[in-house]
Amino acid sequence: MTASLHNIKVLLGITGGIAAYKTPDLVRKLTQQGAEVRVVVTSSAKSFVSPLSLQAVSGNTVSDDLLDPMAEAAMGHIELAKWADVLLIAPATANFIAKLAHGMADDLLSTLCLATQAPVFIAPAMNQQMWQAQATVANMQTLSDRGVGVFGPAQGEQACGDVGPGRMLEPEELVNALSQNLIQPVLQGKKIVITAGPTREHLDPVRYITNYSSGKMGFALARAAHLMGAEVVLVSGPVNLPTPSVSKFHKVVTAQNMLDAVMGEISDSDIFIGCAAVADYRPVESVNHKIKKSNEEMSLSFVRNPDILANVAALENAPFTVGFAAETQNVSGYAKDKLERKKLNMIAANDVSKKDIGFNSDDNQLHVFWKDGDVLLDRADKLTLATQLLTLISEHYYDA
Ligand code: C5P
Repeated sequence: MTASLHNIKVLLGITGGIAAYKTPDLVRKLTQQGAEVRVVVTSSAKSFVSPLSLQAVSGNTVSDDLLDPMAEAAMGHIELAKWADVLLIAPATANFIAKLAHGMADDLLSTLCLATQAPVFIAPAMNQQMWQAQATVANMQTLSDRGVGVFGPAQGEQACGDVGPGRMLEPEELVNALSQNLIQPVLQGKKIVITAGPTREHLDPVRYITNYSSGKMGFALARAAHLMGAEVVLVSGPVNLPTPSVSKFHKVVTAQNMLDAVMGEISDSDIFIGCAAVADYRPVESVNHKIKKSNEEMSLSFVRNPDILANVAALENAPFTVGFAAETQNVSGYAKDKLERKKLNMIAANDVSKKDIGFNSDDNQLHVFWKDGDVLLDRADKLTLATQLLTLISEHYYDA
């Protein structure tokens, strides 16, 4: 997996927290990894770190003012936003996080965040109480829903004497996190179809059966694939998530709807990822009127739904096909069995019996299997895992 920053253009945004004193070292470590670094500071950051030091270590003038005609003439703010392959904001204060969450553009750095198409990563640093404040928690949720990557914060003793979460990660940890999370356009020109969320199978006009899938993993995959340059078609059952920017979004309800939407898109696709928790059965009949209660007991009959993943894998010109296996026991055994039985190229297994990962949680952990190998992707937020899984898929896709 990508682990270097060779030739990567990093725009480092520094905001006004005490951890800013570590940023000259961060710039040095980024450049040692091969990155080209330009630095933008907010006006309060200059109270904690000198622009002259940052200029010396980055080899570039440091920008701080949106309305400086000299700086605009050298490299204007839109040009700077386009120049960057990635934006890293370290340290990111509670105030800057709030500004970012609300799309404000009242200084150079916040304007750049709006004007760039590059992925944005933040390294929060603040007092532990401020980090846990409801407003910060809500702002962080907004940013994470929008695909902003988050590094840290770490736990420990703080500059103010408190102990708790809120310390900026150390420069070396930030450099590692950036190189592991940097999304390279390795899927440029590839069409990826992804299914996500649950399906609903109607019993009558007011009732249905479904499952606990939130759609978060499939949506994270769609977002990451889009950032990696792919043409993404997302086919999703009913979920409660903002629609990510993709080429096409099909909103479906039942397994049959999902199969139809997938089959309509699959013939010219390169990769298919079945991440949806498709209902295995549907009621034999869905009646047109509400079922009335009468007897003490009632029973329903179900028929098997089509297996979308297996249908795709069985196509004559099947795309590179990746399945998911949500299990509560013998995770790797069932996953390997599914890989073979459904004739998949790869399968990502997760243990949904663990309460803090999997269904409806923001984190996950995946054990990925292919014909002659496997890798464990350690617990992380779903966007990070999605990026790692897609990197793995792209490596095997190009090898196949
Ligand atoms: O066999 P099982 O349902 O456990 O397999 C899970 C995998 O198969 C997931 O990738 C899921 O999206 C896919 N699947 C499907 N259609 C079904 C059932 C499962 O595409 N009807």
